[in-house]
Amino acid sequence: MNHNQLKKIAAEAALKYIPENSVVGVGTGSTVNYFIDALLTIKHKIAGTVASSKVTAVKLKELGFTVIDPNSVDELSIYVDGADEVNNSLQMIKGGGAALTGEKIIAAIAKKFICIADISKKVQILGKFPLPVEVIPIARSYVARTMVKLGGFPVYREGVVTDYGNTILDIWNLEILEPAKLEQTINNIPGVVTNGLFAVKPADILLLGTEDGVVTTIPNPALALLV
Ligand code: 5RP
Repeated sequence: MNHNQLKKIAAEAALKYIPENSVVGVGTGSTVNYFIDALLTIKHKIAGTVASSKVTAVKLKELGFTVIDPNSVDELSIYVDGADEVNNSLQMIKGGGAALTGEKIIAAIAKKFICIADISKKVQILGKFPLPVEVIPIARSYVARTMVKLGGFPVYREGVVTDYGNTILDIWNLEILEPAKLEQTINNIPGVVTNGLFAVKPADILLLGTEDGVVTTIPNPALALLV
């Protein structure tokens, strides 16, 4: 199977975790696009969706899903999204599609985060994929200099403006041994909106597309009873 087929089987495996009549948080990216296609088959069984980005909202609306403003939901039972890297603790690097801020907000609102990914995203140590950092435009150089002091090599993602009018710095050369600590350190730099480490609040369930089928990881045994 190629990468796309592995993404598709992981995405389809998420369907069985979607509770009836629930509002579903929907991430951004090519793996999520397969999930949206799968979700279409149970559209009549869900109450609506919350989108993590403008591009996802457009796609969902085009397909006839109800898209609810995050401010109008008190509770979101489930959020399904992809990742650029995921480690054994289900901590992730996200933001390859520049949607990290919306993704982090929806992940924070949701009770459960299901990460769907193909096997190429699985790593022992996060950091080979450059860490995206969303930055308020006037702080770009300052944040870049600060990231150099932290051992990174920042590259400005030219031509990219986020959904919130900000810029992205991709930080290369990081070997992230303490993901939660680094996530907080970077988020404390003035001018940083958020960074693509999802480590303080990792995924709850990982559905990994492999040549042998979908491998499920659920670190919290209480959640394993879900299915
Ligand atoms: C977008 C993301 C995506 O989840 C991540 O980039 C993975 O994308 P894909 O499913 O296309 O490989 O974080 O900001």
